[in-house]
Amino acid sequence: MRVDVFTQLPHAFGWLTEQRPLASVLGTELELRLLNYRDTTPLRGGQVDDDPYGGGAGMVLRVDVVDAALEAAYGDVRPARVVALTPQGRQLEQELVEELALEPELALLSSRFEGFDERIVEHLATDAVSIGPYVLSGGELPAMVLLDAIARRLPGALAEGSGELESFSAHLDGGLEYPHYTRPAAYRGWDVPDVLLSGDHARIERWRREQSRARSVA
Ligand SMILES: C[S@@+](CC[C@H](N)C(=O)[O-])C[C@H]1O[C@@H](n2cnc3c(N)ncnc32)[C@H](O)[C@@H]1O
Repeated sequence: MRVDVFTQLPHAFGWLTEQRPLASVLGTELELRLLNYRDTTPLRGGQVDDDPYGGGAGMVLRVDVVDAALEAAYGDVRPARVVALTPQGRQLEQELVEELALEPELALLSSRFEGFDERIVEHLATDAVSIGPYVLSGGELPAMVLLDAIARRLPGALAEGSGELESFSAHLDGGLEYPHYTRPAAYRGWDVPDVLLSGDHARIERWRREQSRARSVA
């Protein structure tokens, strides 16, 4: 799939692209373009935002700037999903991640300061997505959260099988994963459950299912 991130801070994504899972799928399952609104703005001096009508603090990302960025990237044929990252959007959950990971192309719109001119969300975006009920300073971290979650769902991103039984997956009916333990088996009186040391795979599987169910309803 191809993901295009529209941002004022493309360099912020350097760290993410060097790490797994993104690094594992970049150039194969994932093509990532980082597009700076400033490169295509129709305004002078690289201007992308402006004062809000009606007054008030902060600057607002302009609708003509975002439209020009989309026009430069796609012409008239825009991706079926153009996602505006905003705290006012639909809260991101695994189900939406799975859905977006199936798209052949995806555009992510981020903003800063006071956010988007509302016409961007209403007319240029198809979706508005929030990564949680709190306010961050810009859409770059939300875009990275979504990108990382999507990359994990692409073939080759994870070691064989490790993405199958994760929390919120359909395999666990949207529930939580069972707890994991590793060596040492005994440490400061915090012992690993005996069942995991039993070597009895059927018992271990049963225990894991029970643990997963118990955590999911808690
Ligand atoms: C400071 S926020 C703007 C908040 C906006 N004035 C409000 O009160 O709803 C600037 C930008 O950061 C991004 N952002 C901040 N928090 C976010 C969240 N929880 N989910 C998604 N994007 C977020 C959005 O792109 C937003 O336009």
